[in-house]
Amino acid sequence: MPDSERAGADSVARHRRSVVSGHRSTGSAPRTDVVARLTHVGRRFPGPPPVDAVRDANLTLRRGEHVAIMGPSGSGKTTLLNVLGLLDRPTRGTYELDAADVSALGEQERTRWRRQAIGFVFQDFFLLPGRTAWENVALALVYRGWPSRQRRSRALQALDHVGLAERLDALPGTLSGGERQRVAIARALVNDPILLLCDEPTGNLDSTTARGVMSLIAGLHQTGLTVVTITHDPATATWADRCLRLADGTMVEGSFGVDRRAADRRVGG
Ligand SMILES: Nc1ncnc2c1ncn2[C@@H]1O[C@H](COP(=O)(O)OP(=O)(O)OP(=O)(O)O)[C@@H](O)[C@H]1O
Ligand SMILES: [Mg+2]
Repeated sequence: MPDSERAGADSVARHRRSVVSGHRSTGSAPRTDVVARLTHVGRRFPGPPPVDAVRDANLTLRRGEHVAIMGPSGSGKTTLLNVLGLLDRPTRGTYELDAADVSALGEQERTRWRRQAIGFVFQDFFLLPGRTAWENVALALVYRGWPSRQRRSRALQALDHVGLAERLDALPGTLSGGERQRVAIARALVNDPILLLCDEPTGNLDSTTARGVMSLIAGLHQTGLTVVTITHDPATATWADRCLRLADGTMVEGSFGVDRRAADRRVGG
């Protein structure tokens, strides 16, 4: 970790350290076993007319879980993911992240938390077209004050991890959809997040490429990363440990919507 980051340890880092040291001193069950908890969360957009995009969402994400969230278009999936990712604030209920109540944080604190704790993967990749693969990944470290040489070596490491060591200098426009999504995954990983949030990560990919991307995400999950994947695609959802559904802004326990063993055979084959 570069000196500038160490020197600039902020409240988020302090919080994370205190939570970790808390377990050691008490010897009790780790508080951080729960990475994120939503309790009766709602998000109303004021309108007019007002829209209750999320009405009542309850969710406990345990460390190392991979949860899929499905539901019809407009059911509130992206709104919920934005709340989980601290891009948005609930208008009711509470959100605890890493054992801290983050429901009512101001903009600056939320941004700080987001940069330190969350990685995002979106359907449309959101890569900067004029920047190379490694520059896109390294950019995520600029905001954390890493010196440029260290940014580059960290970005290279992340791109190697997603199998793109050969395409470091490629511009996004010269990469395939699957490769672009791998760059986006590398970008999500460089900050060492505690929570990876994926909104339709396979939505723009053909089924073979989608399997490759989900296999990569599943590999990250197996190393202990907590993952939420929003998807319309039952085959994508089957990579998760469990599947929840949003129906008209309300979270319900769901099923994978397919015979999971059959889907496993399909994705495995
Ligand atoms: N900024 C906003 N202002 C007003 N209404 C909004 C806003 N963002 C989303 N909505 C509404 O909230 C509801 C949920 O939207 P959301 O994008 O969360 O759905 P979704 O489940 O992600 O849908 P999709 O599967 O199509 O991506 C929709 O009715 C949408 O029109
Ligand atoms: Mg959406």
